[in-house]
Amino acid sequence: MRVLITGASGYLGREVWNQLRADHTVTALGFSQSLPGLQSVDLRDADALGTLVKVVQPDIVVHCAAYRDPDFCEAHPDETYRLNVAPVETFMQTLPAASRLIYISTDYVFDGNEPPYAEDAARRPINEYGRTKRAAEDVARARSTSIVLRVPLLVGCGLTFEESGFIAKAVQAIEDHPESEWDHVIQRYPTAITDVAAAIRFLLEQQDAAGPYHFSQREGGTQYEWVCRLAAILGYPTDGIQPAHTLTQRPATRPWNSQLANHRLAALGFKRHTPFASVARDVLALRSARSE
Ligand SMILES: NC(=O)c1ccc[n+]([C@@H]2O[C@H](COP(=O)([O-])OP(=O)(O)OC[C@H]3O[C@@H](n4cnc5c(N)ncnc54)[C@H](OP(=O)(O)O)[C@@H]3O)[C@@H](O)[C@H]2O)c1
Repeated sequence: MRVLITGASGYLGREVWNQLRADHTVTALGFSQSLPGLQSVDLRDADALGTLVKVVQPDIVVHCAAYRDPDFCEAHPDETYRLNVAPVETFMQTLPAASRLIYISTDYVFDGNEPPYAEDAARRPINEYGRTKRAAEDVARARSTSIVLRVPLLVGCGLTFEESGFIAKAVQAIEDHPESEWDHVIQRYPTAITDVAAAIRFLLEQQDAAGPYHFSQREGGTQYEWVCRLAAILGYPTDGIQPAHTLTQRPATRPWNSQLANHRLAALGFKRHTPFASVARDVLALRSARSE
C-alpha cells in the first residue's frame, strides 16, 4: 500500500515509520527536524498539503502530527486548531475517495470521571488539547472508512535517551534529586510506542476496520507509583521518592482517570502488551549504548 505518515519525525510517528517501511511504500512527513528519507511539509499550509496528497495519492494516511502538550494548547487555542484540526479537514477535502485515514487521538477526549471508557463512551474533554482532538476525530469520521485510534501516555525509546519521554525524565530526576515529590492523584497507563505502532500496523491491514479503537495497557498507577516501580526495576533507592497528594496548578486541567478499555481491538484478536519493565530497560540501554 502507499502509506503517508505525518509526524514521522515525532515520538510515535518514527516508530510507525520503522514498522511500516518494510512492507509498504511509505512517504514520511516531518516539519522542523531533518532525518534521512523524511520530507518536510508544514501541515498548516493547506495548499502545500493538498498538492502533496495529489502527488502521493496515498491508500492510507496515518496522521500522527499534533501539538500534544496540553499546557501549550490551553495557552494557544487558535494555533492548536491550525495543527490539530485544520489538516484533517484538508485531508478530507483532498484525499481520493477510496483512501483511508487513521487518526491518532487521545484518552484526553474523556473527562476522567467514569473510567474505564469504552470506544463509544461519551467524549467530554476538559481541556483545549482534548477539545481539538475531539473536533479532529469528528472531521475524520465524516468519512465512514476512517479509523480513530485513542492512546494514553506513551513510553519507549526516542532517538536518544534524553528524547525518551517519561521514563528518561523520571530516571534523570531520580538520579539528580533522590528526594523528590511526584503526583499521586492522576491515574496513568503508560503504553509502549512499539505496541501502539504494532496496533496501527494491525488496523491498517484490517480492510473492514473503521470507527474508534482504543489501545492502552491495563495496569494503572499515579506518577508516584510509576516512579517507585521504575526505581525498583532499575535498582535505585525508593526512600526519597515521595507522594504529592495535591496537584500543582497548571494551565490545562488533566482528567483524573481516563483509562481506555480495548474492547474492539481485543475482539479483532490484537492483544499485544509489552511490560513496563521491559520498556524501561530498553530506554536505559539507549544510554548505556551511547556511553560505550
Ligand atoms: N506522546 C504521548 O504521550 C501521547 C499520548 C496520547 C496521544 N498522543 C497522540 O499521538 C500523536 C503523536 O504524538 P507524539 O508524541 O509522537 O508527538 P511529538 O513527538 O510531539 O511529534 C509531533 C510531530 O508533529 C510534527 N509537527 C509539528 N508541527 C508541525 C507542522 N506545522 N507541520 C507538520 N508537522 C508538524 C513534528 O514534526 P517536527 O518534529 O519535524 O517539527 C513531529 O513529527 C499525536 O496525535 C498525539 O496527540 C500522544
